[in-house]
Amino acid sequence: MALQLGDQVPDFTQDSSQGPINFYEWAGDSWVVLFSHPADYTPVCTTELGEVAKLSPEFEKRNVKTIALSVDSAESHQGWICDINETQSTTVNYPILADSDRKVADLYGMIHPNSLNNLTVRSVFIIDPAKKLRLTITYPASTGRNFDEILRVIDSLQLTDNYSVATPVNWKDGDDCVVVPSIPTEEAKQKFPKGVREIKPYLRMTPQPNK
Ligand code: BEZ
Repeated sequence: MALQLGDQVPDFTQDSSQGPINFYEWAGDSWVVLFSHPADYTPVCTTELGEVAKLSPEFEKRNVKTIALSVDSAESHQGWICDINETQSTTVNYPILADSDRKVADLYGMIHPNSLNNLTVRSVFIIDPAKKLRLTITYPASTGRNFDEILRVIDSLQLTDNYSVATPVNWKDGDDCVVVPSIPTEEAKQKFPKGVREIKPYLRMTPQPNK
């Protein structure tokens, strides 16, 4: 059965552009964005992996490690990384898993044979420090991902893990939040000293608690 939100993600050891990696050891206490792409030396993937490299200060700020994957070899990844660095004006400083035997792709359900035969589709997994799966998105091969959206979701997850709020449509860090439905409004007013605005009994807004 496919991995579902809240599941403990499987551990693995696999080769990478930076040598063999044991996933759990490598992840340590960090959040992880694990993302697959169809193949090395392809145009959309080149832009995506360059963008993730450019965003590395944003991932680091949030205690997130990034790791890419395709079914190409480590040698192929190393050659392609030179092209990414050159064409995207960046330095890829995170590993790309070399999943030639499809071990990780099968464990995580990254191959969708009715879409791309024997190649990994554009999957994204956000994994928390307890190794629980917190988000999964699958994109078609022809659509490059929006990694600002991935950062936005990480901001939401890290906030809502610590405060009794949820984040509304198009929320971004600093915007007002929604009070979770399980908290009565009178209790919410105590809990959120910055104020609670009751639009409907079920729709209560509060300024972001950690700002
Ligand atoms: C790309 O990364 O450009 C790509 C890969 C597979 C199919 C289509 C595009």
